[in-house]
Amino acid sequence: MKKAIINTFAILGLVFLTSMFFNHSTAQSSAKKSIEGKPISAGIMEIAEKSCVKCHSEGGKGIAMMHLNLSDWNNISMEKQAGKAKEMCKMVSKGMMPKKKIREKQADGVPSQEEVKTICHWAQSIQ
Ligand code: HEC
Repeated sequence: MKKAIINTFAILGLVFLTSMFFNHSTAQSSAKKSIEGKPISAGIMEIAEKSCVKCHSEGGKGIAMMHLNLSDWNNISMEKQAGKAKEMCKMVSKGMMPKKKIREKQADGVPSQEEVKTICHWAQSIQ
């Protein structure tokens, strides 16, 4: 009988410790998510102004804005910014952004190789 009581306490203790542990770790990850992001650096914004904002900022295209809204950049968390920046690097490296039709019509809006590198370095720097 005594043993059963001790066991019960042991189990309760374990449950308590486990819940503490989980509470602690969720508190930490939500803290990370709420870290405020940083504005896009001037050099990157210059490239974006030339090549991306037409579709990816206020007044831009609906679908484009759903994926990437540069006007809203300062209001998203650091974690989200890191993810978006990575996508931006991926899309420009593969030549998938700006879209093919636009690239043909407005060649001057296509980022140069140098600019693609700049975007990717920046993306890496904020991961
Ligand atoms: C002519 C309009 C236009 C321009 C200019 C443009 N985009 Fe896009 N972008 C879109 C559209 C539309 C989508 C939605 C997805 C699709 O249709 O492929 C998109 C999607 C994206 C996505 C999300 C991709 C995914 O699969 O989730 C990223 C990242 C992106 N664009 C980055 C850029 C960057 C960086 C530039 C500038 C170098 C740029 N875009 C220029 C129209 C544009």
